[in-house]
Amino acid sequence: MENQIQQHIEAVTALLNKALPQIEVSDSLSQLDDIRVTYLGKKGALTQIAAAMKGLSNEDRPRLGQAMNEFKAAFSQAFDSKKSELEHRALNQQLASEALDISLPGRQMPMGTRHIITQTMEEIEDLFIGMGYQVIEGPEVEMDHYNFEMMNLPKSHPARDMQDTFYIDPETLMRTHTSPVQARVMEQHDFTKGPLKMISPGKVFRRDNDDATHSHQFHQIEGLVVDKHITMADLKGTLEVFAQALFGQERAIRLRPSYFPFTEPSVEVDVSCFKCGGDGCNVCKQTGWIEILGAGMVHPNVLEMAGIDSTVYSGFAFGMGPDRVAMLKYNVDDIRHFYQNDLRFLTQFKGGQN
Ligand code: PHE
Repeated sequence: MENQIQQHIEAVTALLNKALPQIEVSDSLSQLDDIRVTYLGKKGALTQIAAAMKGLSNEDRPRLGQAMNEFKAAFSQAFDSKKSELEHRALNQQLASEALDISLPGRQMPMGTRHIITQTMEEIEDLFIGMGYQVIEGPEVEMDHYNFEMMNLPKSHPARDMQDTFYIDPETLMRTHTSPVQARVMEQHDFTKGPLKMISPGKVFRRDNDDATHSHQFHQIEGLVVDKHITMADLKGTLEVFAQALFGQERAIRLRPSYFPFTEPSVEVDVSCFKCGGDGCNVCKQTGWIEILGAGMVHPNVLEMAGIDSTVYSGFAFGMGPDRVAMLKYNVDDIRHFYQNDLRFLTQFKGGQN
């Protein structure tokens, strides 16, 4: 009997001596697991020895049990340390393969610029804000009432022709100018709180065939001043300041008689050519002058319709086209460049970089 138990214990020791070097040289987690199954699995070598337990005496059984426990302890220790070594190695390999090269220079994100029309409009707005004007915007979809009626454009007026106006329904349209904002603001203004001084920038719409100088959608900046004793001299002085700020201190302006239904008298305003200084060149078409806006004294009918007593108050108004101003200032030969979104064009105007 003693012989038999001795043989079993030696078999366990032999098994351990075989298992430990195998664990030691194993090269992967799956290989390591195979070794575990070989020795400790259901059909494993140690399990087979354990089957011999049944035939052992009560004294011998604990001796084999102890030997098997020692096997398991030694096996587990070797197994666990190998396992953590292999896991460590796998992790390091993964980290190495996924490593980022932080020495690579970053990719430059393209920086947008503000549109040249926006820049031009903001430059004009800033100028008038500096002279105490308020900036007030109005709706692009406008009522016939404000766009025409309140602007002294009776139903029969040719400017109401379907040729010029995008109608939405008989009473609603895309505004053809920023002048309706005049009426909206005049209706609301409380003169006990001070004079009315405002500009109104925005988009306007006209049925036009697009070409180098015409667009069905463009921009205007409306100006309106109403108070007691406002005269044509105030208008002229204001526009002179404007022209000089935008086109250079040497500029002069000239007023030519014109006609708008909502102003009386009405004028067309020219600025002396900023390219040739007035001698005549291709920019001013050899005239020495460039037309930049329409203006006039607010028609008494317009004041009265807005509820303002035209015997007490007077005012001037002007309307200018920032698209045209930008074309002149930056020598742009085709208005369509402004809305075609060609970056080769747009990125030339870096002044509006955010
Ligand atoms: N509304 C006019 C236009 O679109 C411009 C203008 C505005 C003229 C104010 C006089 C006064 O042509």
